[in-house]
Amino acid sequence: MKRVAIMSGKGGVGKSYVAAGLAIGLSRRGLAVGVLDADITGASIPHVLGVPKGPRVNENGKMAIGRSPHGIAVVSMSLFMPEDDKAIVWRGPLISNAIQQLHNDSDWEDTEVMVIDMPPGTSDAALTVLQSIAPDAIVVVSTPQDLVTTVARKSQDLAAQIGVPLLGFVENMAYLECPHCGESIELFGASGEQKLLEGGAELLARLPLVTGHAALADAGRLEEAVMPEFDRLASAVWEKLSEV
Ligand SMILES: Nc1ncnc2c1ncn2[C@@H]1O[C@H](COP(=O)(O)OP(=O)(O)OP(=O)(O)O)[C@@H](O)[C@H]1O
Ligand SMILES: [Mg+2]
Repeated sequence: MKRVAIMSGKGGVGKSYVAAGLAIGLSRRGLAVGVLDADITGASIPHVLGVPKGPRVNENGKMAIGRSPHGIAVVSMSLFMPEDDKAIVWRGPLISNAIQQLHNDSDWEDTEVMVIDMPPGTSDAALTVLQSIAPDAIVVVSTPQDLVTTVARKSQDLAAQIGVPLLGFVENMAYLECPHCGESIELFGASGEQKLLEGGAELLARLPLVTGHAALADAGRLEEAVMPEFDRLASAVWEKLSEV
């Protein structure tokens, strides 16, 4: 099994959206995909992928994994929470333990590729994932505007320090297609691709801001999105993952 972690320098840039989109793209390629929602206090993957609550222990004594309507396996703290409006008020060590338990005690037996939705930034929890779970590779999500600043170099430095290969970057909310004239509007500035290439990094995908996707995600139906970019992202990631 290959494991790829989706991270970002800051919150709200679309890590969970990209993690879900990548999982959808990989699953459409026919791969058995699992998502580990490592964001304990801000778990969102089951919600976005429409996974019903209620984890169970299976015959191997492992936690049985939740499933999306199209069969993506999901493990998340939120599957254990009967109500979504209850806050988890835990300190770092407890959160780190929870992440490790979700990873170690779940039955990933049939999973070919695991996508890990990381907690924001480089908190304790994020470091737990990178150091204890030690994924095969990382993908960094950013908006174009942030990519051209220090985010790219900082991510490369982090990856080098922890010794996990950085597959490349995803520009999220890169553009918006005008519904009337089809013109592409670059809301957060031009692509940082050139700058990335100069720094020896790769842009894996540019994802548009799609009006309606937040609503689709909120309704737990992101799998129904018509989004060839998810497939292209999945191809780029899968190809590079097989090399690490
Ligand atoms: N390309 C996109 N098109 C449309 N909506 C998007 C896109 N990317 C993200 N969103 C929406 O923006 C919101 C924030 O995205 P998301 O939750 O994935 O960010 P995040 O980086 O995981 O945040 P956090 O740091 O809180 O975990 C969500 O409602 C998501 O559905
Ligand atoms: Mg998130």
